[in-house]
Amino acid sequence: MRLQTGLLVIFLCVNFSQAFWPWPFTKTHKHKHDPPPPPPPEPKISPVIFVPGDGGCQIDARLNKNDTPHYICEKTHDWYTLWLDIEELVIPMVYCWIDNVKLYYDKATRTTHNTPGVETRVPGWGNPEVVENIAPSKSSAGVYFSAIANLLIELGYERKKNILGAPYDFRKAPNENKQFFIDLKELVEDAYERNNQSAVTFITHSMGSPMTLIFLQEQSADWKSKYIRRQISLAGAWAGSMKAVKVFAMGDDLDSIALIASILKQEQITHPSSAWLLPSPLFWKPSEVLASTPSRNYTMSQMKEFFQDLDYMTGWEMRKDTLRYSENFSPPEVELHCLYGDGIPTVESLQYKKDDIANTTPNLVMGIGDGTVNQRSLRACQHWSGYSSSEINTLALQGVDHMKILTNSDALRYIRTVMKQP
Ligand SMILES: *[C@@H]1O[C@H](CO)[C@@H](O)[C@H](O)[C@H]1NC(C)=O
Ligand SMILES: *[C@@H]1O[C@H](CO)[C@@H](O)[C@H](O)[C@H]1NC(C)=O
Repeated sequence: MRLQTGLLVIFLCVNFSQAFWPWPFTKTHKHKHDPPPPPPPEPKISPVIFVPGDGGCQIDARLNKNDTPHYICEKTHDWYTLWLDIEELVIPMVYCWIDNVKLYYDKATRTTHNTPGVETRVPGWGNPEVVENIAPSKSSAGVYFSAIANLLIELGYERKKNILGAPYDFRKAPNENKQFFIDLKELVEDAYERNNQSAVTFITHSMGSPMTLIFLQEQSADWKSKYIRRQISLAGAWAGSMKAVKVFAMGDDLDSIALIASILKQEQITHPSSAWLLPSPLFWKPSEVLASTPSRNYTMSQMKEFFQDLDYMTGWEMRKDTLRYSENFSPPEVELHCLYGDGIPTVESLQYKKDDIANTTPNLVMGIGDGTVNQRSLRACQHWSGYSSSEINTLALQGVDHMKILTNSDALRYIRTVMKQP
């Protein structure tokens, strides 16, 4: 539009007055004959794709089983919400739930599968609602990306048009989520075309940040500069977390008083994603102590012995399958906003009172982080500042917990400011 007006001005000047062209007539002419200035171009709205973390979307199950772990468990059931229905997480129902959600590792194929007779699927591809609220009953327990989605709506966004969700089977690590990466590329290209060719913003949380990193590492620079506007990462578990070591040692109660860590451990340790989230060797030194007993230390370089003594070599096998993802820490090469909480006690190592670690519950030695992810992992994005050609901004939010960052007013204000820039 601008260019055309310019050409028109020159054309008219030449015709009206060859002698005085261009200056005296250009000015007069502008007053008399210029059409009104064109309206400013429609602000482009960058479509947003939410990429959730571990446990951050729904999983449906269908049952047709021969055996169950408890007489109250159903053997057959049509599709229902397996993850997450809080009501299934009480004793004795939780034993049925664990049997339906756990995975089995096949050392020959190096992949995992469900309990025989359990089929699972991840519903709602592209739909933000499955990551806004993980519990379909919309109980407050499952609130996830909803505050950010509501903020985007205030900015003129619409669900499913330019607010999208990219759920995946978070139990599995990237090596078993190949289809997710293929589908994600298609979702990005679709969102771009359906929104006036506006490049996409990823808003990612926790494990969703390194999932998105792996996706971006695999795309060409040309593709990224066309389709990706930026990534806003919240509490990214860039380099894993000691919390994953804790999960293999004693389970995790998911910060809910109603859940029992030692029971949940039975399914959590079967997830390859738990092994992928073990501390990265790029950010933990080989000599660092992960766990100590009265007679010895287990250092980072002795993780294999740790799994041996826990009597869970499957954990070590899954670690080997996923280590290559931790070892590639090349930058995403897109504009990155790396927000994280800081200053909260976070497990740093385990301390056992007995040598028999397979049958002892350790004490937790605390360090600093966001309560779930260690500070060095949250901050790992700063490491790219020196050698990424794209802009990297980091924001540490003191005292903001791993989940609370999704509703924290400072984080939301930051997102609003960034998203107002087309
Ligand atoms: C694309 O832009 C045009 C005008 O520039 C606008 O009217 C339309 O609503 C936009 N479409 C989308 C999907 O944003
Ligand atoms: C374990 O490591 C700590 C340092 O973190 C060290 O002080 C201690 O002596 C080590 N214990 C053994 C038994 O090697």
